[in-house]
Amino acid sequence: VDIDGEKIVGVALGKISSSVDLGNEDSLICPGLIDTHLHLPQFDSIGAAGMRLLPWLSEVIFPAEIRWNDLAQAKSMISRVANQCLGVGTTGICAYATVSHDATIAALRAFREIGFRGVIGQVMMDRDAPAELLRPANQLVDEVDRTLSLFPADGRMAAAITPRFALSCSESLMEQAGALAASGFAVIQTHLAETTAECRAVDQRFGGKSYVRVYQDAGLLNQHSVLGHGIHLDRIAQQQLAESGAKIAHCPTANSFLGSGTMDRDSHLAAGIPITLGSDIGAGFERSMVRVGRAMIDAAVRIATGKDGKTDDFDQIPSAAHAWYQITAGNAHALGWDDVGRIRAGASADVLVVDPDIPWRKTRCPLSTLMFAWDDRWISRTILRGRVQFARNRGDGRVAP
Ligand code: GUN
Ligand code: FE
Repeated sequence: VDIDGEKIVGVALGKISSSVDLGNEDSLICPGLIDTHLHLPQFDSIGAAGMRLLPWLSEVIFPAEIRWNDLAQAKSMISRVANQCLGVGTTGICAYATVSHDATIAALRAFREIGFRGVIGQVMMDRDAPAELLRPANQLVDEVDRTLSLFPADGRMAAAITPRFALSCSESLMEQAGALAASGFAVIQTHLAETTAECRAVDQRFGGKSYVRVYQDAGLLNQHSVLGHGIHLDRIAQQQLAESGAKIAHCPTANSFLGSGTMDRDSHLAAGIPITLGSDIGAGFERSMVRVGRAMIDAAVRIATGKDGKTDDFDQIPSAAHAWYQITAGNAHALGWDDVGRIRAGASADVLVVDPDIPWRKTRCPLSTLMFAWDDRWISRTILRGRVQFARNRGDGRVAP
């Protein structure tokens, strides 16, 4: 892989020249991984187990997000989170910040400076959360509008329009967010149908209007929408989503952690809904998109096999190759990011150098070996826009006798 400046300029197959700067014939050169749903202020909240979504938000997540009202605290966490992303090979993100405008701008600046690809959204909330996390709708819309002009949708790091979910937004806020979305082509992020309790609350609040219709009527569903979860959806909802062009960001680790349910990926794909994959840190507990890819396979196994978990029909389960595709080119393609996700001439040089300490190339299915035996410590370099932003020093770790 030949990199010049910020770009990959050539890819050659065959014998590796002895003059390469990085890697050797046992290395994997992999596109940087793309995480299409994560919450930057939630990285320190991973692992708060034993609660369903709504109490978990109130008791764990909202207090954590309030801490980002202190810009110094937010900045110090942003830099730790960026390092953690680099360390697990994540180079592309669709991320939520908090309701704090200043913290969102700081996150966008920090991630852009390092060279990440993606979007970060100021979370929009004007009801049903602690007062410290609420802002008047018109203030939120003004702030997001300003962020969009500083970080436009065609930039490498762009602002996203991010109403948290129907339960934290007034109809007026959602409509104004929808109007903002209609004026450009920014990514729209929100959560959809993650738990049945949430769906019941939406049903009650909006007088029986379906969850999908609530977003659709507000103008929040188009081909730039990335909707977290989408577990509890009927056929009509699937059809409406498919027609809108909105994507569902599947977050299998978060769904098992909060006991929300198992999303039926095949059913959504068959209905014509594009599916991306996300860690959903901090409901999700795996920073590594490789392990989230593995969880995607696990979730499909659960759907395919039911409770007893037995099957002989492995063909209906996504392969490791599918999962590798999903966390690289698949996520990039679904988001319309044609500059990343693949190793090819002309692409941005967002690349991992992976040096497994196992003979992976000699196994029956190398991609499956890599995925299931995965160790983050194999990532020896994370390269963004042609610059090494993360390098691991690796001895074998043994202490001399
Ligand atoms: N629904 C609304 N907000 C959130 C959040 O922060 N995490 C998850 N998993 N679901 C949500
Ligand atoms: Fe989420």
